[in-house]
Amino acid sequence: MSEIANQPVLILLGPPGAGKGTQARRLEERFGLVQLSTGDLLRAAVAAGSPAGREAKAVMEAGGLVSDEIVLAILRERLSQPDVAGGVILDGFPRTTGQAEALDTLLAAEGRRVTGAISMEVDDAAMVARIAGRYTCAGCGEGYHDSFKQPKRAGICDACGGTEMKRRPDDTAETVAVRLEAYHSETAPLISYYAGQNLLHRVDAMGEIDAVTTDLISTIEGLRQPA
Ligand code: AP5
Repeated sequence: MSEIANQPVLILLGPPGAGKGTQARRLEERFGLVQLSTGDLLRAAVAAGSPAGREAKAVMEAGGLVSDEIVLAILRERLSQPDVAGGVILDGFPRTTGQAEALDTLLAAEGRRVTGAISMEVDDAAMVARIAGRYTCAGCGEGYHDSFKQPKRAGICDACGGTEMKRRPDDTAETVAVRLEAYHSETAPLISYYAGQNLLHRVDAMGEIDAVTTDLISTIEGLRQPA
């Protein structure tokens, strides 16, 4: 089997605000993997004004799910780039059973498979507060929160020293409610999908950010133990 077949493909599952992006950034550093967020890829397509981005924009702003066709095209393109050959953490993908099946097919064609799916378990009620207070550094994408994670020096990014911060247009209370609904109807069934393949692991994501990181690291370390 080729070397690429042994590289991890980890999935972070969880509703909006569960901390997928925050944790994926930490895990990519810790394990030398590449974070691959379909939300980020779609926002880049929107900013670039590509045909896919123009189609995705209104759906994203309303809190719905972008079509599998667009998401899969964007993901396929990203997965073909050389920097992801060492393994990836998928953040926000797959989000429908169709996407999960397409991912299995895509990986199988390269002799790869999903290594583990981690469900980040949270209460819906807390997610609105997490999302409403969220902002990121415009320069490097480091995430912050008005209450839970502020930069060490006000207005200055800890990671890159940038001073421009931005908020997402879909981070309103109304849109978050729609996004949570989409999660429960379209994405939560993937918990059973991966449990059925013995790939599912659950992590309590209601604790402090560092505590969640510790749990995720030990879960992933467990996946790396020889059978
Ligand atoms: P996407 O960008 O994937 O957004 P999401 O899934 O809604 O998730 P979020 O980014 O909102 O939350 P997160 O879990 O990453 O939390 P974060 O770490 O930032 O998708 C956006 C849109 O794109 C979708 O609505 C859809 O339209 C489209 N899309 C994307 N992928 C798609 C797909 N595959 N198919 C179809 N459509 C797709 O944390 C949130 C805040 O809380 C931060 O401020 C953070 O500092 C704070 N925080 C994190 N952890 C903790 C903690 N433990 N305690 C306290 N605060 C915390």
